[in-house]
Amino acid sequence: MNTALIILAAGKGTRMQSDLPKVLHHIAGTPMLVHAITAGQSLEPTEIVVVAGHGANAVEKAAKAHDETIKIALQKEQLGTAHAVAQAKELLGDFEGDAFVLYGDTPFIQPETLEKMAEARKLHDLVVLGFEAADPGRYGRLVMEGDALKAIVEFKDSSDDERKITFCNSGVICGNSTAVFDLISEVKNDNASGEFYLTDIIAIARGRGLSATAVTCDESETMGINSRAELADAEAAFQKRARSSALENGTTMPAPDTVWFAFDTHVGRDSVIEQNVVFGPGVTIETGAHIRAFSHLEGCHVSRGAVVGPYARLRPGAELAEETRVGNFVEIKNATLQEGAKVNHLTYIGDAQIGEETNIGAGTITCNYDGVMKHRTTIGSRAFIGSNTMLVAPVTVGDEAMTASGSVITKDVPDGALAIARGAQVNKPGLARKLFDMLKFQKAKKQRGAD
Ligand code: UD1
Ligand code: CA
Repeated sequence: MNTALIILAAGKGTRMQSDLPKVLHHIAGTPMLVHAITAGQSLEPTEIVVVAGHGANAVEKAAKAHDETIKIALQKEQLGTAHAVAQAKELLGDFEGDAFVLYGDTPFIQPETLEKMAEARKLHDLVVLGFEAADPGRYGRLVMEGDALKAIVEFKDSSDDERKITFCNSGVICGNSTAVFDLISEVKNDNASGEFYLTDIIAIARGRGLSATAVTCDESETMGINSRAELADAEAAFQKRARSSALENGTTMPAPDTVWFAFDTHVGRDSVIEQNVVFGPGVTIETGAHIRAFSHLEGCHVSRGAVVGPYARLRPGAELAEETRVGNFVEIKNATLQEGAKVNHLTYIGDAQIGEETNIGAGTITCNYDGVMKHRTTIGSRAFIGSNTMLVAPVTVGDEAMTASGSVITKDVPDGALAIARGAQVNKPGLARKLFDMLKFQKAKKQRGAD
């Protein structure tokens, strides 16, 4: 069965107090919209349409950055959820199959839940996702009759009895796409909000003799985000789940509450993540790697047996092979460390390749940027870079080569060579003592003058 995802994301999100469209606010390093789309992608849809309105250009950019096949429907005026879904019709053209409607501001719907809805669809024309609300508040109420969903009543339009219902509408709904668009064409806006409610299609469908049911999920999945406080709650909820799942999958974390994961962090079995480690997007930590306290990692790959930190920063394109070491106050960007390479202290390695078993001394800098362009540094295997070496790129240091401490390397160093590129040392016998005597005499004279 073909599936089309329709993601509603046209709302302004006034309560966010933001210039950024609500759905582009980040949770775990990626827009909440991307969380919603990713959840829907578990259904392997052939079509994805995002309905955008407020900040449509920015929404389109973010959606396409995630998946360039996503189509954007524009809803110029927000006339209600049914009207929003109707905007996707043209883009879906002659699509045949099921449509799933999700909200861009409801990021945590789980793939298993959507799977359950797809199962229920085999027996019913329309399937709505509901949840038992601890506080039903202003949610739409699901009016059930056994397994059958009779209608959804919006809070504003509900009777006192209907308000007592605690089984609420999450907003997620699915049905045959042609049928859904057809039902929507009959929706009117003669209600308390003057909006075209998608939820009205249930009663319309039942009137036509179609069947509808509701599938239940945990309330935590349907968490919608309307304010910065709810955004922070959503982040906390995401982190809680990510931490539990890392622990369950065999990661050691002495202080899980201090570790921050991104939406796509991959942590292998028997790895250790110490206190206060922060993961940005795109990080893979292989089995048995050890990330020590206060490290910040983003867009990087850490192989088996590598040790990173404390206080290390791995930036996009950092590729650490097995048994490598990256120590304190070291920054690595767009650089490969081959097996057993060590960069232990106070160093910047950018746009570089470091060969096997090579040791980079403290305070080494790859001078990769000339103010206009970036250049590469290539260092061979088993080389030794003396402390405080400046490697002025583009430059190559050969296998088993050495650089003397404090060197400014501007020319390639051949295999096995020692490069010394610093002022030669001159010793002046006895001059230090003379200088001390002179300075002490001057200080004493000054103090006498002051008395
Ligand atoms: C909606 C449901 C309600 C449900 C609740 C769950 C309707 C009529 N009501 O109410 O039953 O309990 O969600 O959170 O569907 N949107 C558009 N264009 C529009 C209107 C809305 O894109 O014209 C988008 C919003 O950006 C948002 C989503 O649709 O992401 C839901 O809209 P919202 O106005 O928040 O609906 P609720 O009143 O919360
Ligand atoms: Ca809402």
